[in-house]
Amino acid sequence: MKLKKAVIPVAGLGTRFLPATKTVPKELLPIVDIPSIQYVVQEAVDAGIQEIIFVTGRGKDGIEDHFDEAPELEQILTDRGQTETVKMLQRIGEMTEVVSVRQKKPLGLGHAVLCARDLVGDEPFAVMLADDLIDGETPCIRQLLKIFEETKESVIALLEVPQGEVSSYGVIKGTKVKPRLYQIEAMVEKPRVKDAPSRMAIIGRYILRPEIFAILDNLPPGKGGEIQLTDGLAQLVRERQVLGCEFEGERYDIGDKFGFVRATVAFALKRPDLRDKVLEYLKSAIH
Ligand code: UTP
Repeated sequence: MKLKKAVIPVAGLGTRFLPATKTVPKELLPIVDIPSIQYVVQEAVDAGIQEIIFVTGRGKDGIEDHFDEAPELEQILTDRGQTETVKMLQRIGEMTEVVSVRQKKPLGLGHAVLCARDLVGDEPFAVMLADDLIDGETPCIRQLLKIFEETKESVIALLEVPQGEVSSYGVIKGTKVKPRLYQIEAMVEKPRVKDAPSRMAIIGRYILRPEIFAILDNLPPGKGGEIQLTDGLAQLVRERQVLGCEFEGERYDIGDKFGFVRATVAFALKRPDLRDKVLEYLKSAIH
């Protein structure tokens, strides 16, 4: 049972980034010069996942185009002698197999995952949210895959967050069974601070068994009137084992403006061509 497919839902409206997202999908906004979605697809590819399933919506066609070949552009660049740039573009076109399915209305993340049911089939699959950029030595989804390969059970990524932030996340109740490994007993979407069962928050990387589809198919709308993936997972926990992996790596919430700026600065500082200039600028900007 080798895991081959990753579902990346990109059908959200991205309202926190308006007006930028009026015509440009938020997943194509660049962190330095690479669209954020490319980092997430690269993470999947680095973990050996062979097929990416985008769940898209209106105005999101550019995301698929980004991973397609671009013969006209390549020809112009070849004529200009920009062979390195052509190679870089070709590598993106050859990165992975991409397919997509439409979510006609943004009815929630759980509904978006359900839209991929026919393309996934009856096999385990990954779900990766493009809002979470995770920079780690081992790709986050690879860390989850390792646990899945050992247990064959669903695994979700966890991050300990400050008490005051629990209301922004799905939060688990669970028992630590090994370093960084949790046995999940329950989970709740965006709890009030006083009701949160822990500070272990669910982050956008999941390995799911196909049983989740039947659950999502029968799930009533939850918080915000949306079909919530967390509600589906909470039910899966009652039926089967679900594990939590406190992953290693730095996570940036780029669906949030401050998280986006933080990622931009951090990724610029990792770039040899930019590091010194950015550092110098940051020092001069602090008065
Ligand atoms: P968010 O809740 O962050 O919503 O979705 P959003 O529309 O992307 O952004 P804001 O809050 O309006 O600024 C979390 C993830 O789930 C996907 C989004 O694309 C994002 O990756 N999603 C959400 C869907 O694909 N469909 C939905 O119906 C809802």
